[in-house]
Amino acid sequence: MLGLIEKLIREKLGDLDFQLLAGENRAHFSTNAAFVFGEQQKISPLEAAEELKSFLEAKSPQGFFSKIEIASPGFINFWLTPETIQAEFLKMVKAGESWGKAELKKTVVIDYSAPNIAKPMSVAHLRSTIIGQSLYNIFQFAGAKVIGDNHLGDWGKQFGILIAAYKEALPNKPEFEKPTIEDLMKLYVDYSARAKVDEILNEKAKAETVKLQQGDKENLKLWQKFYKLSLKEFEAVYKVLGVKFDYYLGESFYNPMLSDLVREATLKGVAKKSEGAVIIPLDKDDLPPYVVQKSDEAYLYSTTDLATLKYRIEKFKADLILYVVGNDQALHFNQLFAAGRKMGLVKNTGLVHVKFGLILSSDLKKLSTRAGRYISLLEVIDEAIKKAKKVVEAKQPDLVESEKEKIAKIVGLGALVYNDLSQNRMSDITFDWDRMLALEGNSAPYLQYTYARLRSILRKTPKSILPKKGFDPAALNKEADLALILKMAYFPEIIKSATMNYYPHYLANYLYELARLMNSFYEKEPVLKSEPVLREARLALVKKTAETLKIGLGLLGIKTIEKI
Ligand code: ARG
Repeated sequence: MLGLIEKLIREKLGDLDFQLLAGENRAHFSTNAAFVFGEQQKISPLEAAEELKSFLEAKSPQGFFSKIEIASPGFINFWLTPETIQAEFLKMVKAGESWGKAELKKTVVIDYSAPNIAKPMSVAHLRSTIIGQSLYNIFQFAGAKVIGDNHLGDWGKQFGILIAAYKEALPNKPEFEKPTIEDLMKLYVDYSARAKVDEILNEKAKAETVKLQQGDKENLKLWQKFYKLSLKEFEAVYKVLGVKFDYYLGESFYNPMLSDLVREATLKGVAKKSEGAVIIPLDKDDLPPYVVQKSDEAYLYSTTDLATLKYRIEKFKADLILYVVGNDQALHFNQLFAAGRKMGLVKNTGLVHVKFGLILSSDLKKLSTRAGRYISLLEVIDEAIKKAKKVVEAKQPDLVESEKEKIAKIVGLGALVYNDLSQNRMSDITFDWDRMLALEGNSAPYLQYTYARLRSILRKTPKSILPKKGFDPAALNKEADLALILKMAYFPEIIKSATMNYYPHYLANYLYELARLMNSFYEKEPVLKSEPVLREARLALVKKTAETLKIGLGLLGIKTIEKI
């Protein structure tokens, strides 16, 4: 249905970008196409809207639209006939689980999570992990070839600090031969605090970094030891969250390419010496120069990122690279993209810094600064599960323990992930356990609960009355039936706009609205108690809604359960 509208508008607009939106003022759908068309034709949006309207009326099949209206300053609003909507329902039921899938023929590299080895994985890395994985899923669903790359910070000066701290502590602590991740964190936190006020310690750490980068055997061995330990900790987080990467190409991977890269930039006349350092001037882009080599010859985060950019374009043939990294690195990415363009590395590749804000919360701050100052994200996750367990206990006291635990895990993790993805990633987000775990309101438990409720209706339906040979969509003619179908008809558009804006919250909020619509439908309209023809059709509606919720939540990285 939207496909047809889109196709007709395309006949007029060609390749120009326009959007079909959920309708305002109770229209079924709206479009901004007249603004785009008007600009191209050099006529006013209202005139353009008139022209598009007549065109659509002439070209659409009889009985497709029930009404087309123009709203100033040039929006076009559509209303569809019940027959059109019912036909659309049949189409989505036939499409089954591929409803909403598309064919985005693009290779998309997503850079997400990227914690720093030998440092604790922070809450910001958790956000990157959650947002990145959901974008991964959504892009894949939209038909893109997606490559997930965990660009670990595994080569920075934190290793110098850790190696120096470790060498200092080892003589008195033989048990550090086999350190735990907590040991390392303590060493790291303690030494870096002391090095801030003690220049000698600071110099020692720097010297260890240089030794490591020059290939010193002992330091390389320590590096490997710390790397493995940190990775194990990160992987535990990924496992509970269901996060996967195709590559782990951290900063160290690019180390052998850096000198060639700086030479290339210099030969191309893009980079030059300045006070002993090598910089890429970016005045034309109104940006400060990008430093790619320091005066002591050391390479930097900026150098590895430039090498990474080149690699992803050349080796992965990326059409689009998404960097899911906090707002605070906006300048770095502006410089990186400008430097990459200046070097001629970037031709048709889209480069996007998918920014996000902080997590604001008294709860979480308390949590992450507790006692030893180091708190693993696994503990935050455990806390979520523990709190969810209480919710499950209150709701389902009679379940067996193992069942309660299974549900608590899915609900707790869902709450954590959904809290992140349901808020606009650009702003700082709040973190409030009570709201996150509420069974009412815009929360994962509410969505999971709605899903379970629908599944229970289907479970309770006696086999004898389950639709045998399809159903008659014409039976779905009440306002509430049609509203639900329309909402689901919008699912493919939501996927599209989530990929166009890199906004998982579009999908999250859509699912919330769908769940609310379904719940109010169910309060007003009988399903199992309606007469047989309507009952069959409504069962199909319940089934499709449950399926859409499950698929949508799955794309966000949230599991569903049959019972809550
Ligand atoms: N390790 C970095 C940090 O924690 C994030 C890396 C993001 N990716 C990149 N290509 N720069 O700040």
